[in-house]
Amino acid sequence: MPEKPITHRAGPRLTGKIAIVTGGGKGIGSATAQVLAAEGAHVVVATRTEGPGQETVDAIKAAGNSGELLVIDMADKDAVFAMVDSVAAKHGRLDIVVHNAAVMGRHPVTERDDTLLDAMLAVNVKGCFWLSAAATPHMKAGGGGRLLITSSVTGPRVTMPGSGAYSASKGAVNGFIKAAALELAEFGITVNGVEPGYIDTPGLTRMKTRYGADRIGHFIPYGALGDPADVAHAFLFLASDEAKFVTGQTIIVDGGAMLAESPVWKE
Ligand SMILES: NC(=O)c1ccc[n+]([C@@H]2O[C@H](COP(=O)([O-])OP(=O)(O)OC[C@H]3O[C@@H](n4cnc5c(N)ncnc54)[C@H](O)[C@@H]3O)[C@@H](O)[C@H]2O)c1
Repeated sequence: MPEKPITHRAGPRLTGKIAIVTGGGKGIGSATAQVLAAEGAHVVVATRTEGPGQETVDAIKAAGNSGELLVIDMADKDAVFAMVDSVAAKHGRLDIVVHNAAVMGRHPVTERDDTLLDAMLAVNVKGCFWLSAAATPHMKAGGGGRLLITSSVTGPRVTMPGSGAYSASKGAVNGFIKAAALELAEFGITVNGVEPGYIDTPGLTRMKTRYGADRIGHFIPYGALGDPADVAHAFLFLASDEAKFVTGQTIIVDGGAMLAESPVWKE
């Protein structure tokens, strides 16, 4: 039997797709929203603060692409379901959801106050379940879809003192990615994530102020922090039709930071 011919389709890769990117106002979410829109998707920028969210939408439109803003707090379960249903009703379909918004911060293991821990578990972990539960009926109706999650190397691979809660939340989403991928594979819905290392975003400001971007970059084999677009382009592949056979996976985007047994080789 002759082999199937290999076809490579030149972009744009996401024409006609409807995407939601949470935490799309800044950093990795903003870059991902802009890259998906540049590839032809209509992108709903779903974020908590209106100003940065509108800036992302303005950038999408200034580039001649299509997007809209939806202000949402991902800690609000009812709001997440209402948002997803309203997007699917308005556009008649839903193809791509990127769960990217996250609560970050220090929660030492000796801490008794649960406030930050609860916020991290709500937004980072439960938000992932809510978005998926809300989106999958619409994706099934459309014959498939892409659930994409911003995880982290922090938790699944490495950690830092004070990062127990954040690490637990990112380890949890990696478990979710595998289980959800198994459950949804038969519907043509893939579930994948990206594990960023140090990416130069507003969310990294505290780290940069404390240690300095150059010093952090020195210990990354690439030699500098990553750009939000580095993560966005990994998501683009996972969002594409060409990634139909990739599911339950995470791609590490960290400039090689996870490779060395110890950072001393750089000193
Ligand atoms: N920057 C890094 O080095 C890095 C590394 C690993 C993982 N990550 C992950 O990447 C994702 C994005 O991080 P970033 O550095 O771009 O962050 P950022 O702080 O630069 O941007 C986060 C965006 O999410 C929005 N947001 C925060 N809480 C929200 C909520 N409850 N509901 C809706 N929107 C909310 C913010 O308004 C902002 O627009 C997060 O999941 C984070 O854990 C980042």
